[in-house]
Amino acid sequence: MGIRHGSKIQHHSKPISKIYLIFILLLLIFTPRVDSSWWYIGALGARVICDNIPGLVNKQRQLCQRHPDLMQSIGEGAKEWIKECQHQFRHHRWNCSTLDRDHTVFGRVMLRSSREAAFVYAISSAGVVYAITRACSQGELKICNCDGHKRGQASDDKGNFDWGGCSDNINYGIKFAKAFVDARERMVKDARALMNLHNNRCGRMAVKRFMKLECKCHGVSGSCSLRTCWLAMSDFRRTGDYLRKKYNTAIEVTMNQDGTGFMVADKDFQGSTKNELVYVENSPDYCLTDRSAGSLGTAGRVCNKSSRGTDGCEVMCCGRGYDTMRVKRVTKCECKFKWCCAVECKDCEDLVDVHTCKPHKRPDWLDIT
Ligand SMILES: *[C@@H]1O[C@H](CO)[C@@H](O)[C@H](O)[C@H]1NC(C)=O
Ligand SMILES: *[C@@H]1O[C@H](CO)[C@@H](O)[C@H](O)[C@H]1NC(C)=O
Repeated sequence: MGIRHGSKIQHHSKPISKIYLIFILLLLIFTPRVDSSWWYIGALGARVICDNIPGLVNKQRQLCQRHPDLMQSIGEGAKEWIKECQHQFRHHRWNCSTLDRDHTVFGRVMLRSSREAAFVYAISSAGVVYAITRACSQGELKICNCDGHKRGQASDDKGNFDWGGCSDNINYGIKFAKAFVDARERMVKDARALMNLHNNRCGRMAVKRFMKLECKCHGVSGSCSLRTCWLAMSDFRRTGDYLRKKYNTAIEVTMNQDGTGFMVADKDFQGSTKNELVYVENSPDYCLTDRSAGSLGTAGRVCNKSSRGTDGCEVMCCGRGYDTMRVKRVTKCECKFKWCCAVECKDCEDLVDVHTCKPHKRPDWLDIT
């Protein structure tokens, strides 16, 4: 793009200074800043080496060095919450896609204070709570175990039960997530830092919200007259679904005068923002590729011709139209149960139409050479 642009400029009267200006501009746009985050741990997989993760602040680097086993869990957990984020936004223009070998992980979208950033901060800190709590219970970590504080008898709507010794240690998960994830934002005092801290907390609490009682029955022939129970985390999908709903109802805020808290932008808002996601900046429409806004655009995205929702071709393609391809699809069919015990199927082929969004038209000035 730069080269074509440059050659166009050369027809003008003062080529050198203009080319120079554009060069500086391109440098400013593409020079990586220290925008990276602990999220990058997920991309490193098993090779977590604390000094090699750009964007860890000192406190995080110390925690990383002191607890390599926890970092391992956080890294594995990152793959899961990123997948959950992509699942929740699979039908949206912004789809939570990550950029390979990019330290910002999600691109520059996270430098903004948008609704999408709010969601990513919340689900990522929820993901850390989940990963660490689970690793504690599985005995994978030196520093924590499952929670044995609950002892003796208790009761629920089904009657009395005995506490088993091994509940999920969510409080440890929350404590560590808070220390590690929040460390970066605690060093800054601006609207974005406040917003991130708030949404991080929402994420941590979301996991706790879905703790449930799990029980094992004892007693004569499984009569369940005696039960041993413990508190366990629900599937991470519950947290994902919950935060996705919170994304829909996220609240726009502005920082108050003395910089210690928010004000809700909507004067008519009643109630508390405590358990709501908050954002400061409106989102771009994510229709076009705009790296500075962190938008990949929707060219080439698959859309649903008959849907009126966000996955519909009209909305997804931003009115640019779509291409249709007829593709062969292979499915299992005519499955028969074979005695005993297998299911045998045939491979059936049919043709389905796949619609993908058209690319945006190049602006006219790019075609002048
Ligand atoms: C998200 O959208 C981008 C750009 O439109 C596409 O390249 C990418 O494959 C999508 N990612 C996922 C996880 O669907
Ligand atoms: C497309 O959207 C329609 C209407 O919302 C829905 O019934 C259908 O299952 C969708 N098709 C696919 C392939 O997702």
